[in-house]
Amino acid sequence: MSRELIETGLAHSWTAVRIARHIEHPESVVLTARLERACAGFAVMQFAEDSAHLNLLAVRPQYRRRGIARQLLSWLHESAVTAGTFVIALELRATSAAAHAFYGALGYRETGRAVAYYQGVEDAIRMTRDLRINDGVLRAPQG
Ligand SMILES: CC(C)(COP(=O)(O)OP(=O)(O)OC[C@H]1O[C@@H](n2cnc3c(N)ncnc32)[C@H](O)[C@@H]1OP(=O)(O)O)[C@@H](O)C(=O)NCCC(=O)NCCS
Repeated sequence: MSRELIETGLAHSWTAVRIARHIEHPESVVLTARLERACAGFAVMQFAEDSAHLNLLAVRPQYRRRGIARQLLSWLHESAVTAGTFVIALELRATSAAAHAFYGALGYRETGRAVAYYQGVEDAIRMTRDLRINDGVLRAPQG
Protein backbone atom coordinates (compact mmCIF):
# COMPACT_ATOMS: atom_id res chain seq x y z
CA MET A 1 0.00 0.00 0.00
CA SER A 2 2.85 2.36 0.74
CA ARG A 3 4.38 1.75 -2.68
CA GLU A 4 1.08 2.14 -4.44
CA LEU A 5 -0.46 5.03 -2.50
CA ILE A 6 2.39 7.05 -0.95
CA GLU A 7 5.66 6.43 -2.77
CA THR A 8 4.10 6.56 -6.22
CA GLY A 9 6.74 7.49 -8.80
CA LEU A 10 9.59 7.29 -6.26
CA ALA A 11 12.00 4.48 -5.45
CA HIS A 12 10.35 2.36 -2.78
CA SER A 13 12.01 3.00 0.54
CA TRP A 14 9.33 1.47 2.78
CA THR A 15 10.17 -2.18 2.31
CA ALA A 16 8.39 -5.02 4.10
CA VAL A 17 11.48 -5.43 6.30
CA ARG A 18 11.38 -1.76 7.31
CA ILE A 19 7.68 -1.99 8.18
CA ALA A 20 8.28 -5.21 10.12
CA ARG A 21 10.92 -3.38 12.18
CA HIS A 22 8.34 -0.76 13.09
CA ILE A 23 5.80 -3.43 14.03
CA GLU A 24 8.33 -4.91 16.44
CA HIS A 25 9.77 -1.62 17.71
CA PRO A 26 8.47 -0.70 21.18
CA GLU A 27 8.42 2.99 20.28
CA SER A 28 6.49 2.66 17.05
CA VAL A 29 2.78 2.26 16.54
CA VAL A 30 1.60 0.47 13.39
CA LEU A 31 -2.13 0.44 12.76
CA THR A 32 -4.36 -1.07 10.12
CA ALA A 33 -8.00 -0.27 9.43
CA ARG A 34 -10.14 -3.17 8.26
CA LEU A 35 -13.38 -2.74 6.38
CA GLU A 36 -15.40 -5.32 4.50
CA ARG A 37 -12.65 -7.84 5.40
CA ALA A 38 -10.12 -5.76 3.49
CA CYS A 39 -7.22 -3.71 4.74
CA ALA A 40 -8.62 -0.26 3.96
CA GLY A 41 -5.85 1.85 5.45
CA PHE A 42 -2.79 1.92 7.63
CA ALA A 43 -0.54 4.23 9.61
CA VAL A 44 2.94 4.15 11.12
CA MET A 45 4.07 6.55 13.83
CA GLN A 46 7.35 6.60 15.72
CA PHE A 47 7.89 8.14 19.15
CA ALA A 48 11.00 10.16 19.94
CA GLU A 49 12.07 11.99 23.12
CA ASP A 50 9.72 15.00 22.99
CA SER A 51 7.61 14.38 19.92
CA ALA A 52 6.28 11.71 17.62
CA HIS A 53 6.78 11.44 13.90
CA LEU A 54 4.01 10.26 11.62
CA ASN A 55 5.86 8.26 8.99
CA LEU A 56 3.07 6.85 6.87
CA LEU A 57 -0.70 7.11 6.56
CA ALA A 58 -2.86 6.00 3.66
CA VAL A 59 -6.35 4.82 2.84
CA ARG A 60 -7.22 2.89 -0.30
CA PRO A 61 -9.03 5.10 -2.83
CA GLN A 62 -12.32 3.17 -2.69
CA TYR A 63 -12.56 3.73 1.09
CA ARG A 64 -11.69 7.43 1.18
CA ARG A 65 -13.85 10.22 2.62
CA ARG A 66 -15.45 7.88 5.15
CA GLY A 67 -13.42 9.10 8.11
CA ILE A 68 -10.97 6.18 8.16
CA ALA A 69 -7.80 8.30 8.19
CA ARG A 70 -9.38 10.55 10.79
CA GLN A 71 -9.99 7.48 12.99
CA LEU A 72 -6.45 6.18 12.48
CA LEU A 73 -5.01 9.57 13.39
CA SER A 74 -7.25 9.93 16.38
CA TRP A 75 -6.02 6.55 17.68
CA LEU A 76 -2.44 7.75 17.23
CA HIS A 77 -3.22 11.04 18.97
CA GLU A 78 -4.67 9.11 21.92
CA SER A 79 -1.56 6.91 22.05
CA ALA A 80 0.67 9.98 22.02
CA VAL A 81 -1.27 11.73 24.77
CA THR A 82 -1.18 8.53 26.86
CA ALA A 83 2.59 8.46 26.39
CA GLY A 84 2.85 12.12 27.44
CA THR A 85 3.90 13.16 23.93
CA PHE A 86 2.00 16.15 22.64
CA VAL A 87 3.78 17.24 19.47
CA ILE A 88 3.25 15.29 16.25
CA ALA A 89 5.39 16.10 13.21
CA LEU A 90 5.22 14.84 9.66
CA GLU A 91 6.31 15.47 6.10
CA LEU A 92 4.12 15.07 3.08
CA ARG A 93 4.74 15.29 -0.63
CA ALA A 94 4.33 18.86 -1.84
CA THR A 95 2.15 17.64 -4.70
CA SER A 96 -0.27 15.83 -2.40
CA ALA A 97 -3.19 18.24 -2.19
CA ALA A 98 -5.50 15.67 -0.56
CA ALA A 99 -3.03 14.95 2.23
CA HIS A 100 -2.44 18.67 2.77
CA ALA A 101 -6.18 19.29 3.04
CA PHE A 102 -6.60 16.28 5.34
CA TYR A 103 -3.89 17.33 7.80
CA GLY A 104 -5.11 20.92 7.71
CA ALA A 105 -8.62 19.71 8.59
CA LEU A 106 -7.15 17.72 11.49
CA GLY A 107 -5.46 20.77 13.03
CA TYR A 108 -1.94 20.39 11.57
CA ARG A 109 -0.15 23.57 10.59
CA GLU A 110 2.57 24.03 8.01
CA THR A 111 6.00 24.73 9.50
CA GLY A 112 8.22 24.70 6.43
CA ARG A 113 9.30 23.14 3.21
CA ALA A 114 12.21 20.78 2.60
CA VAL A 115 13.47 21.22 -0.94
CA ALA A 116 14.00 17.98 -2.90
CA TYR A 117 13.42 15.96 0.29
CA TYR A 118 12.04 13.00 -1.61
CA GLN A 119 14.97 11.41 -3.41
CA GLY A 120 16.01 14.76 -4.85
CA VAL A 121 12.93 14.98 -7.05
CA GLU A 122 10.13 16.36 -4.93
CA ASP A 123 9.78 18.84 -2.08
CA ALA A 124 8.23 17.97 1.26
CA ILE A 125 5.92 20.13 3.30
CA ARG A 126 6.50 19.85 7.02
CA MET A 127 3.47 20.04 9.30
CA THR A 128 3.04 19.73 13.04
CA ARG A 129 0.31 19.65 15.57
CA ASP A 130 0.49 20.32 19.29
CA LEU A 131 -2.17 18.12 20.84
CA ARG A 132 -2.51 20.49 23.82
CA ILE A 133 -4.05 23.09 21.54
CA ASN A 134 -6.46 23.15 18.58
CA ASP A 135 -8.01 19.97 19.86
CA GLY A 136 -11.42 21.19 20.84
CA VAL A 137 -10.64 19.46 24.12
CA LEU A 138 -7.66 20.81 26.05
CA ARG A 139 -5.39 17.98 27.04
CA ALA A 140 -2.85 19.63 29.26
CA PRO A 141 -0.57 17.37 31.30
CA GLN A 142 -1.87 16.77 34.84
CA GLY A 143 0.01 17.58 38.02
C1 LIG B 1 -4.94 11.74 2.86
C2 LIG B 1 -5.76 10.47 3.08
C3 LIG B 1 -5.00 9.56 4.06
C4 LIG B 1 -7.14 10.83 3.67
O1 LIG B 1 -7.85 9.63 3.97
P1 LIG B 1 -9.45 9.59 4.16
O2 LIG B 1 -9.79 8.34 4.93
O3 LIG B 1 -10.11 9.78 2.86
O4 LIG B 1 -9.69 10.87 5.08
P2 LIG B 1 -10.99 11.16 5.98
O5 LIG B 1 -12.21 10.58 5.34
O6 LIG B 1 -10.70 10.73 7.39
O7 LIG B 1 -11.05 12.75 5.89
C5 LIG B 1 -11.14 13.60 7.04
C6 LIG B 1 -11.23 15.04 6.56
O8 LIG B 1 -10.00 15.41 5.88
C7 LIG B 1 -10.31 16.29 4.77
N1 LIG B 1 -10.00 15.62 3.50
C8 LIG B 1 -9.69 14.30 3.32
N2 LIG B 1 -9.43 14.07 2.01
C9 LIG B 1 -9.60 15.25 1.35
C10 LIG B 1 -9.49 15.63 -0.01
N3 LIG B 1 -9.19 14.77 -0.98
N4 LIG B 1 -9.72 16.94 -0.33
C11 LIG B 1 -10.07 17.85 0.63
N5 LIG B 1 -10.19 17.52 1.96
C12 LIG B 1 -9.95 16.24 2.31
C13 LIG B 1 -11.82 16.57 4.87
O9 LIG B 1 -11.99 17.68 5.72
C14 LIG B 1 -12.32 15.30 5.55
O10 LIG B 1 -13.53 15.48 6.22
P3 LIG B 1 -14.92 15.37 5.37
O11 LIG B 1 -14.83 14.11 4.53
O12 LIG B 1 -15.95 15.28 6.46
O13 LIG B 1 -14.98 16.60 4.53
C15 LIG B 1 -6.00 9.72 1.73
O14 LIG B 1 -6.48 10.65 0.76
C16 LIG B 1 -4.77 9.03 1.17
O15 LIG B 1 -4.49 7.87 1.51
N6 LIG B 1 -4.00 9.70 0.27
C17 LIG B 1 -2.82 9.10 -0.35
C18 LIG B 1 -1.71 8.84 0.63
C19 LIG B 1 -1.22 10.10 1.33
O16 LIG B 1 -1.08 11.15 0.72
N7 LIG B 1 -0.97 9.97 2.65
C20 LIG B 1 -0.56 11.10 3.48
C21 LIG B 1 0.90 11.35 3.46
S1 LIG B 1 1.86 10.02 4.15
